[in-house]
Formats: sequence, structure tokens, C-alpha cells
Amino acid sequence: MRILLLTHAFNSLTQRLGAELQVRGHSVSIEFDIADSVAEEAVALFRPDLIVAPYLRRAIPQSIWSRHVCLVVHPGIVGDRGPSALDWALQNGDAEWGVTVLQAEAEMDAGPIWATTSFPLRSAKKSSIYRNEVTQAAVTAVLTAVERYAAGEQPTPLAAWPQARGELQPLMKQAQRAIDWGQDDTATVLRKINAADGFPGVADELFGLPCHIFDAWPDASLAQEPDLTAGAVIGRRETALLRRTRDGAVWIGHAKREGGFKLPATLAFAAEAAELPELPLAGWWRVDHATWQDIAWEETDGVGFLHFEFYNGAMSTLQCRRLREALAWAKTRPVKAIVLAGGADFWSNGIHLNVIEQAESPADESWENINAMDDLALELITTDRQLTIAALAGNAGAGGCFLARAADLVWVREGAMLNPHYKNMGNLYGSEYWTYLLPPRVGEEGARAIMKNRQPLTARGAVDIGFADACLAADAAAFRIDVARRALELAQADGFAAGLVAKRERRARDEAAKPLAAYRAEELAQMRRNFYGFDPSYHVARHHFVRKSLASWTPRHLARHRDLGWSVPE
Ligand code: COA
Repeated sequence: MRILLLTHAFNSLTQRLGAELQVRGHSVSIEFDIADSVAEEAVALFRPDLIVAPYLRRAIPQSIWSRHVCLVVHPGIVGDRGPSALDWALQNGDAEWGVTVLQAEAEMDAGPIWATTSFPLRSAKKSSIYRNEVTQAAVTAVLTAVERYAAGEQPTPLAAWPQARGELQPLMKQAQRAIDWGQDDTATVLRKINAADGFPGVADELFGLPCHIFDAWPDASLAQEPDLTAGAVIGRRETALLRRTRDGAVWIGHAKREGGFKLPATLAFAAEAAELPELPLAGWWRVDHATWQDIAWEETDGVGFLHFEFYNGAMSTLQCRRLREALAWAKTRPVKAIVLAGGADFWSNGIHLNVIEQAESPADESWENINAMDDLALELITTDRQLTIAALAGNAGAGGCFLARAADLVWVREGAMLNPHYKNMGNLYGSEYWTYLLPPRVGEEGARAIMKNRQPLTARGAVDIGFADACLAADAAAFRIDVARRALELAQADGFAAGLVAKRERRARDEAAKPLAAYRAEELAQMRRNFYGFDPSYHVARHHFVRKSLASWTPRHLARHRDLGWSVPE
């Protein structure tokens, strides 16, 4: 079928759905929901058999739904309606939630139902639930709905679901999200911040200034200290602030000041945070109580796991430097394999665009950040005493993908999405030694195509083209177990020592043919032009990305129906 994806943005759910539909032989094109007339034009050009709306912020116009079947993905259980579906489910502490695919009609989210899938609801950040459980459930439900539609079946009206417990729920307002620091216990504070992450955040105050707060973590180390007032900010650690609650404390990782954009909390309130005591952790070992720890090391049976839980996978200069230090230290440990486990939701999305945007000189900060990324990639490429494995439980984009490729092996959780290209960010050339790392995997022509086409890759797609080495279990817990088991097998295999020798020899041969420093210098010469040259595209693109400017057109590489010479296959 010809399937048009009508969506507010090309987010990871839309990327995944597009890829899954294409794998099943459908012809997919994408249009951003910018205006009714633009959507109507897309429909006229593409003449779709079916329209799927994975992520919309407003209703589909009647001119479209009255003539075409439009499947809308709603992140809620059957009967649930309204724009704050997940927010309410998390805030109310629901044990189970779901995704429903319904047909667009006049009343929003009230059309007949094509498919629905449910899942146990973790108490986690809304954005994490969206990228994991919701995305997986949406893929299952949409694929079922598409099959049912293709088979000529009909959807079931909502009235025929008497057991449906969902209902119409209003937009969740800030008043309903507000934290009462004197009354709310730690669990309630966490639930409220989780239900608002990563948008819109909870409106609150820090240091007496209004802001929105995000990214909360419990801290179990603090016993009740009655002389401290609940709500007081009492310390800092790297990028996060520690704040008292009625019965303990929480770390606040990110904040957005009025008129600003989301930043690490200690940067959003740099002057105020500088006055607070630093509460460091000793070394890189994972601590055994709940706290905020962005870099954590674990070891079992000669295999080491380096976790780096950086919010949104964005890696600032300082984060790259700290991670490089941690990796250099890990290389001195008596382990045979080092697994770079990244974070639960993202492995890495490359340089930290928000921190760069905030800098006095974004060009200088971009330069520092990309050099720190390159130093980290170099540390990884030159690991010669251990096998290195990048285990991607979460998504990776841009430089983050090539940082992963700097490891000997790249294993990806089924369901994670990869965007191994840079051009979407104002035509960035990219670094992280990609010109050294990519061609041997996919060929010179393949590398050119990946960079030019800018298409997302599923885990399987990444293995098929040679970018990744294995696609492992979709379930996050099963993935962790699978990674640990395989890493141990490799570390204990008979050929391990010979494999290390071969790796060192390969590196020496490559270095003799062309030093890593030469690849880096060539890439950075191009990046220097991106950062300091006459063409401001990168700075403009970053400005819009960080501020989430609304798109005013759909990029041509996505809107295939707008290609010159596009003809609709009969
Ligand atoms: N720096 C800062 N923030 C970043 C980021 C980066 N490099 N990459 C992603 N984010 C943030 C987004 O702004 C968004 O913030 P939110 O918490 O306010 O929602 C969040 O991470 C999730 O990103 P989103 O775009 O919604 O996720 P996605 O999974 O749908 O898309 C990408 C993933 C990688 C395609 C997309 O995030 C992207 O293009 N990122 C930029 C990559 C890049 O160009 N890096 C610099 C060059 S190395």
C-alpha cells in the first residue's frame, strides 16, 4: 500500500513506524502537519491508500478524514481521550496502560477502534515510557490495524467496548502538576516530575526564580534532617542539584528558566549553584544506594560495564571529558571486555546542542565539544588490552552513532533507532573519526549514501547494511542479560588472546596506511568551516532545534511525494 505518515515531527516513533512499514513492502512518504492546505496537497500528490498519524498535536481536517481512512495513534487505553493521556496515567499511578489506534472522525480520539495494545506501566519518566513501551505498543497496534485494513475488515465502534475503562480527560494544567514541597513526599515529587518529562516540565521555583524542572532522581542517602526546610536546595553534583523533600531528597537534573530553554540544572542556575557544596561520589564504581550517578562502572567475571546516563543522550564537553577519564580508568581494570552501556533511553546523540547554544561563543563551545568527543572516540579506538562492545539499549544519533562504531562490536537492542548521519543539523560534516570507521563497514559508496540520504535505521536495518554487528532482544531487561552473557562468552573464548593480537595488528596496519590524526585533522577542517565559516546553517539549525521552532516545511528527503518527477505507482 501507499501509506502517508502525517505527523507533527519526525520523532523516534514516526521513524520506527516508517521503517517497519517499509520493511513490510509498503511505500511510505511523510508530511509534517503544518497546515490543512499542506496536508491536503500531500494527499493529492501521494494519493495514499491509507493515512497513519503517529504523532499529531491537532485534529486531521475533515476534508481528509471524510475521504480517506486515517489511523490515529493515541497513547492511551480504549476510551481514553484528551491531550494528556500518559501524563494522567503516570500521575495517577496506573498499573497498566496502552496504545489505541483509532480512525479519525469529527470528535478527537473518539472514532472506531482498529487495534489496541496494553503494557505494564513502569514508574519512570514520561519520555522514557513514550520511547519504549508506547513506541513498541504503537508499532504492534499499527501493524495489526494495517493488516486488518488490508484484509477489508472494519473497525469496532467505541460503544462496542463496554469494558473500556478509559475516559475523556482534560489537558493537565500546571496547577495539577504543582509540587507542594512542604506536603508532598519523595515518591509524589518524583511521580509529578516524571509525568511532565521531557515536556512541559513542572512549573516551580529554584533559588526564588520561576522555572520548569525536569529529570528527577531519588536519593536514599539522606536521613531526615529536621532542621532543613523541605524544598531547600542543599548541594550539587556535576550537572544536578539536590533538593530536600518532606521525607528525603531528590536530584533535579534539568531546568528551563523563563524565556529560556532546557539546560543542565547547574548551568541554568550557574551563579547560584556555584555557592552550593559539591557532593561528589568516590570514583566511578556504581554506588549501591539510589542516587544520581551519571557515569557508573560495574564488573562481573572479567567483563566491565560502563554506564553513562546522560539526559537525552546529549554529551557536553565536560561530560565527554569525564567519560574519557572513566574509560581510561576502566582500561586499567583487570577485565577482558568493556561494555559501553550508555543510558537506558539513549546511548548518545552527540555533542550537547543546548549547552553549546547557551555558551558565550557557540562556535568556540562547538569546537571544544567536538574535540572532547574525538578524544573520547580516540580513547575507545586505541583500547588494545580489551575487547570493546557498544551495547545500544537506547537510540543513538549523529556523532553518538560513530562513537558507538569506535568500539570493536556494536550490539543494538531490537526497537532502538539509529541516525548515523549529521547533515540534518545545518549540513554538519561530522567528526568522531567517521571517515575512518564507516567505509570499512559499509563501503565507500554505502557511506556516501548513508550521509546523503539521512534515513533512520532500525536495529535490524543497521545489521543488514553492516553498520551494527548484532540485533539483540527487544525487552530492555532481556537485552542486558543477553549482552552480559555474550560478552562473557567472548571474553572466555579460546581465541580471545589471538583476537586481541589481530586487533592490535589491524590498528598498526591502519595507522601506517593513514594515521588517525590525519582523519581527525581532515574532519575537523570541515567542522571548522561549519562552526566559523561564512555559511551560518549549523548555527541557524541549532538555534531552531534547541528552541523547538515549528517546522515550516517537510524536508524533501522525507516527503518523497514532493520529489521532482515523483510518479505514483499504479
Ligand atoms: N543535544 C541536545 N539535546 C538533544 C540532542 C543533542 N545533541 N539530541 C537530542 N536532544 C534532545 C531533544 O532536544 C529532545 O529534547 P526534549 O527533552 O526537550 O524533548 C530530546 O533530546 C529527544 O530528542 P528527539 O529529537 O525528540 O528524539 P528522537 O528520538 O525523536 O530523535 C534524533 C533523535 C537523534 C534524530 C534527534 O534528537 C536529533 O536530530 N538530534 C540532534 C543530533 C545532532 O545533530 N547532534 C549533533 C551533531 S554530533
